[in-house]
Amino acid sequence: MLEDTSFAIHPGKEKQKDVVVYRDIGDVTQYEKKDHVYFFHCENGMVAIQFYTDSIVRVTMNQHGRPALDQSYAVDPKPEAVKVMENAEAAGYELKSSALTLHITSRPFRLTVLDQSGHTLVAEGERGMAYRENGEVIAFKQMEAADYFYGFGEKSGHLNKRGEKLEMWNTDVYAPHNPETDPLYESIPYFMTLRNGRAHGIFFDNTYRTFFDMKSETDQYSFQAEGGQLDYYVLAGPKPKDVLKQYTHLTGRMPIPPKWAIGYHQSRYSYETAEEVREVVQHFIDKDIPLDVIHLDIHYMDGYRVFTFDKERFPEPEKLISELREQGVRVVTIVDPGVKRDAEYATYQEGVQSDYFCKYVEGDIYFGEVWPGMSAFPDFTEEKVREWWGKQHSFYTDKGIEGIWNDMNEPAVFNETKTMDVEVMHRNDGRPTTHRELHNVYGLLMGKATYEGMKKQLHGKRPFLLTRAGYAGVQKYGSVWTGDNRSFWEHLQMSLPMVMNLGLSGVPFTGPDVGGFAHDTNPELLTRWTQVGAFTPYFRNHSAIGFLYQEPWQFGEKYEAIMRKYIQMRYVWMPQLYSLFHKASKTGLPVMRPLLMEFPEDEKTYNLNDQFMIGDNVIIAPILTPSTTDRAVYLPKGNWVSYSTGEVLTGGKAHLVHAELADMPIFIKQGTAIMQGKWQSNLDKLAAEQTLYVYPGQAGDKYRFTFYEDDGETFAYETGSYLELEIEIASMEDTIDVRLIDQRGDFKPAYSEIKVEVIGQKAEQKVMINGVLTDSVHRLTIA
Ligand code: GLC
Repeated sequence: MLEDTSFAIHPGKEKQKDVVVYRDIGDVTQYEKKDHVYFFHCENGMVAIQFYTDSIVRVTMNQHGRPALDQSYAVDPKPEAVKVMENAEAAGYELKSSALTLHITSRPFRLTVLDQSGHTLVAEGERGMAYRENGEVIAFKQMEAADYFYGFGEKSGHLNKRGEKLEMWNTDVYAPHNPETDPLYESIPYFMTLRNGRAHGIFFDNTYRTFFDMKSETDQYSFQAEGGQLDYYVLAGPKPKDVLKQYTHLTGRMPIPPKWAIGYHQSRYSYETAEEVREVVQHFIDKDIPLDVIHLDIHYMDGYRVFTFDKERFPEPEKLISELREQGVRVVTIVDPGVKRDAEYATYQEGVQSDYFCKYVEGDIYFGEVWPGMSAFPDFTEEKVREWWGKQHSFYTDKGIEGIWNDMNEPAVFNETKTMDVEVMHRNDGRPTTHRELHNVYGLLMGKATYEGMKKQLHGKRPFLLTRAGYAGVQKYGSVWTGDNRSFWEHLQMSLPMVMNLGLSGVPFTGPDVGGFAHDTNPELLTRWTQVGAFTPYFRNHSAIGFLYQEPWQFGEKYEAIMRKYIQMRYVWMPQLYSLFHKASKTGLPVMRPLLMEFPEDEKTYNLNDQFMIGDNVIIAPILTPSTTDRAVYLPKGNWVSYSTGEVLTGGKAHLVHAELADMPIFIKQGTAIMQGKWQSNLDKLAAEQTLYVYPGQAGDKYRFTFYEDDGETFAYETGSYLELEIEIASMEDTIDVRLIDQRGDFKPAYSEIKVEVIGQKAEQKVMINGVLTDSVHRLTIA
């Protein structure tokens, strides 16, 4: 019938020609300075340049008019008062802080950013900043042969992203998580470039769908967005660690997590009844396998309605939770954003009556199908909705719950696009806009609502939040797990660069589902993965409905014993790890690091995907393939001591190391030290005894680190209740000098001294503690 109408010649029936025309920002027509912002009026738009600190400069292009400088969801700090020298040059302008020099040519507008020693960081060539009539904005930058690219948040594939085109659009990907599977759940439009040992960064603060293209051309890369402004920050470096500090200065740092959240988590989709949960926990206790957290996945709820418990499967949640607490275990419950459409369900009623759900412009609530069936989605872009959502969590905190797991918050919807219609409106605190613009921050804002709500209701205790989706800055609210991986060796391998790149993207508290989520795990894979998990920042074993159960005892005593050893090892290393978490919260430096972070001058580390570092002195080189008991390990300069055998290996080259299933190669750098506790029992996880293991180095080596301790669960550290010990190890020909350089804070731990053990002490070497020679028993006394 329709074919009899003009529909027969509908233009949509023919494919239109693909025409991509970028309009360059053009020549500078006028230059103006206002409130420390430099505005360049150009033929086709306007560019604002603003120094945030001496080493961070923001560039914002708006093709329609004056750039908006106050619309970020990620950047909280205001620009500092930076001293900038301005020079008008023949061909343009120069703006100079103590760390950055910007050269701007005016015909056309082109920007070059140099560091204080004159190295070019970011340069534009024939193409610079541009846009398309459909609203796309794009920046082209020159790419040098020596450039390596890292960060980009949660990405599959290898560490170095040169040669890739990456997309940011939070997406629920159940399968397959292949090296080319992109995008995933998190969008962190940020990267670090490493070039001949020097690093700089770019944070492209745009919440639309964005792309980073290091693939299409050999001498130029680009970043682009489907809409919004071209708004980016150049971070000066010059070392990878500096870039990370600069990036996290902008987007924030992780608060110190509660210590229990850094312990071992056991999860399953789902433990379906209170009895099952009790049984699982009892198994851990009986088998002396440490357990801090058990997760309740969606089956705990009444028909998947958030803020409910199923009354038959979980009849007395308070009782269950307090009994588990007495066994040293906390409960973390999953909370998804979808609120079931059900006229008799209080949360839904309240959300509708108070107008809290996302709606179309015409006024109809948007409904999408998720676990509970048709559901409405809170509009987290509104402050009052975040408050309401946060308050709902008293349902959990009243029952003794201190941790929440936010899932499906891309938001995931069971439809073709996998998410909410992009034309759904968000009220966005008075600047209404569509989901197309705010999709990538939906999960971040849900996390903010949850974290802040929990924090209020926990009255001084630290909440824990685990989230699947997020945007730049997600570290301020939560820990991130990498979603629905599978029980494949390849996914164990891929989790290493993924977690390292997340760490390089400012998110230090991350980890994959240990053992693999979907597909059946097998004993060897689970064992090897548990070994790695003991050292990844977030450590949770989780598996999916319909696949084998994978608690550490499921495959017999042989494997169980190894997993017990490594899960206990997590607690032995807790003092070291906790100090690194503290450091991450202060500086943004990740707990788990690629080697390039510590050895940026060593090109062999630039794409090292199968080893990682914990802090600045420990290398973990796990076995990542089946039936394998030997692997090559690259050790950078210095001497390295095997944690299990004490053997000393010379750095600057690769070694073949042997590791039976019961062993994972770990190396400590000579000349440094690590702090360790002792595994006691599930009830008494906080080490009552600490030992400093010192690995003497070459004469003249000096190593300094900060040991951090506090009560592990409150915010009392913010008002001085912490202990920081600044320890220095000096290696000399005939002595090892261990000194407590400084002690800060007024927290009194359970121990009053730290044992010092020297590993590999030479016969002629004596140990000095705080300048005094000691004989066989060495101790550092805490004042
Ligand atoms: C999603 C999550 C997974 C969870 C499942 C059921 O697939 O990624 O971790 O177990 O939903 O809630």
